[in-house]
Amino acid sequence: MFVRSVLVIVMLALTCCMYASAQTAPAAAAPQTAKPEIRHVPATYTSPSSGKAMYEAYCASCHGLDGKGDGPAAPALKMTATNLTTLSVKNGGIFPAAHVAAEIQGGATTPAHGSKEMPVWGPIFMTLSGHSAAQTQLRIRNLTNYLESIQVK
Ligand code: HEC
Repeated sequence: MFVRSVLVIVMLALTCCMYASAQTAPAAAAPQTAKPEIRHVPATYTSPSSGKAMYEAYCASCHGLDGKGDGPAAPALKMTATNLTTLSVKNGGIFPAAHVAAEIQGGATTPAHGSKEMPVWGPIFMTLSGHSAAQTQLRIRNLTNYLESIQVK
């Protein structure tokens, strides 16, 4: 039991330090040569019922406001922030909802290619939701639905 509570405390401490990265875009006037840096800031609260609001707060920094993978933090990533508007096209015209939800939740997929840069959102949403698993699932579902709504045909 003791070991278990220590683990829980360690995990909580970690989730408190997780973030939606680089919420702040480099100022438009910044010199072109300045290399963008990822700044880690605590995830701000958003309504779990708005996939769009959550997307804009947590995902647009990397994936871009329109989902095409060109967010302000994208150039600072080692990996390309996936274009999230072509998930259906790349999946034979069917939106891969379960895969998307698993990717957002994190931990469901093994990183096949070294370091994963996509944040693991499950624990962050758990913290934001006051540890409500139901609200965390609602957030993931509404984000998934929002991504489905921005698919190119
Ligand atoms: C720090 C930058 C960053 C943020 C913030 C971010 N992502 Fe990602 N995301 C990535 C990168 C990079 C990849 C592709 C490589 C990988 O898996 O790490 C990715 C991959 C994905 C994939 C998998 C796409 C595929 O091809 O299967 C989905 C879905 C996704 N992100 C959704 C989201 C959602 C939803 C959010 C907000 C809750 C979000 N991402 C926030 C960087 C980010």
